[in-house]
Amino acid sequence: TPTPSVKDLLSTPASNQPTVLNAWVRTRRDSKNLVFLALSDGSCLSTIQAVIDKEQGSWDEKLLAKVNTGAGIQVQGSLTASPGSGQAVEIQATGISLYGEAPQESYPLQKKRHSFEFLREIAHLRPRTNTFGAVARVRNAMSFAIHRFFQERGFFYVHTPIITGVDAEGAGQMFRVTTLPPENPPRKEGSTDFSRDFFGRPTYLAVTGQLEAEAYALSMGRVYTFGPTFRAENSNTTRHLAEFWMIEPEVAFCDINCNMDLAEDFLKFIISTVLEECREDMAFFNQWIQKGIIDVLKEVVTKKFARVSYTEAMKELEKAQDSGSASFDFPVQWGADLQSEHEKFLTETVYKGPVIVTDYPKEIKAFYMKQNGDGKTVRAMDVLVPRLGEIIGGSEREADLSKLEARMDELGMHKEDYSWYLELRKYGSVPHSGFGLGFERLIQYITGMQNIRDVIPFPRTVKSAEF
Ligand code: 4AD
Ligand code: MG
Repeated sequence: TPTPSVKDLLSTPASNQPTVLNAWVRTRRDSKNLVFLALSDGSCLSTIQAVIDKEQGSWDEKLLAKVNTGAGIQVQGSLTASPGSGQAVEIQATGISLYGEAPQESYPLQKKRHSFEFLREIAHLRPRTNTFGAVARVRNAMSFAIHRFFQERGFFYVHTPIITGVDAEGAGQMFRVTTLPPENPPRKEGSTDFSRDFFGRPTYLAVTGQLEAEAYALSMGRVYTFGPTFRAENSNTTRHLAEFWMIEPEVAFCDINCNMDLAEDFLKFIISTVLEECREDMAFFNQWIQKGIIDVLKEVVTKKFARVSYTEAMKELEKAQDSGSASFDFPVQWGADLQSEHEKFLTETVYKGPVIVTDYPKEIKAFYMKQNGDGKTVRAMDVLVPRLGEIIGGSEREADLSKLEARMDELGMHKEDYSWYLELRKYGSVPHSGFGLGFERLIQYITGMQNIRDVIPFPRTVKSAEF
């Protein structure tokens, strides 16, 4: 049977019963005959204190000298009431076994506080810190909540491919898949040997699972994907990764309003679940990472999201610019994409919370979006939030074969490459919609973490750190 975790022990009343704990030493403090250890096993943010009384029983001094920050140990003892403030219980140790020491002269995680930049260089050790443990637990709770949300609403989880043949977003930001030559020579800078493509044809890492998800929505009704996604964007920012996780629901017989309702319900469900299930970790973020984040999130789940068209949003930006209450680096001009400064202004100053922006100009959106009657806009819907800007991008899809083909022609796309996708319109086409949520951006939003590199275990970016 597994030994109890720190979390288990901290919620057990003091019993003076024998107990065993496997954990790592976070800190050690010595006073005359006593050694105080703060022990963590990752099960929760809190550590549990173990007290060694060197005058009770016999202790191996050589072994005790190795029980330091970072060491992996087993403590045998009894769970007693803690006289100190803080926790109700502690372990009175009667024995200690050492699994593995952590030589103090080289162990990178010292007792002091480390910068996130430094910790990024030791991505394999950073989950041993409070912040990264908390992020990992919240990320886990969110993953599970995402599946629960969809499963409880009759959605099927579909696995879309990672290796794809087309640029599904038409944004030209793809990584190409190649094979190594049989003799396996060292990689050469700048060498492009296309005969090394995927069995002779060009393929790429998926930028989205949407097109394949559409195939399943148009047979099973409600589906979602949740998997890794790749973008060769040369964006060295705090909200772009080259490899990130995306959640993409796709729903048949659903128009843009139904899509917006789904996105709003979904975000509120995930946020309230985290507030409910990750109290200790959220209290940590609230205190150390983003002051007041809990109250902000509590308000987000109760208030209706603002919904405005792109055209209305542009008017708000123009108004602010003309009155001098805001100045932007990028032009505010109908037709131009919203820049992060604009998104920031809309969410933080105008609407003071999440905003869903709809009906963008077709020129700045993907080919598959449903065209509006005005000939200029499409039924896109992006969800923008304070601090981060866009966290969701979605739309109602163009269900009309001839309109879709005409748009692809306008864009100079090779329709042959999308023949299977077009058949979804040729045979039994129905209105349908979906969206993509950047999982890491939602984690940033909920935890208040500033840099997207710090909410994914091993970040891959333009300027990647550790591989
Ligand atoms: O707006 P995007 O490009 O939309 C799509 O890919 C659609 N196919 C989704 C759909 O309708 N099924 O990306 C969706 C979201 C963005 O809003 C953002 O949150 C996230 O994915 N995202 C990134 N996250 C981290 N790093 C990047 N480089 C990202 N690019 C997009
Ligand atoms: Mg987008």
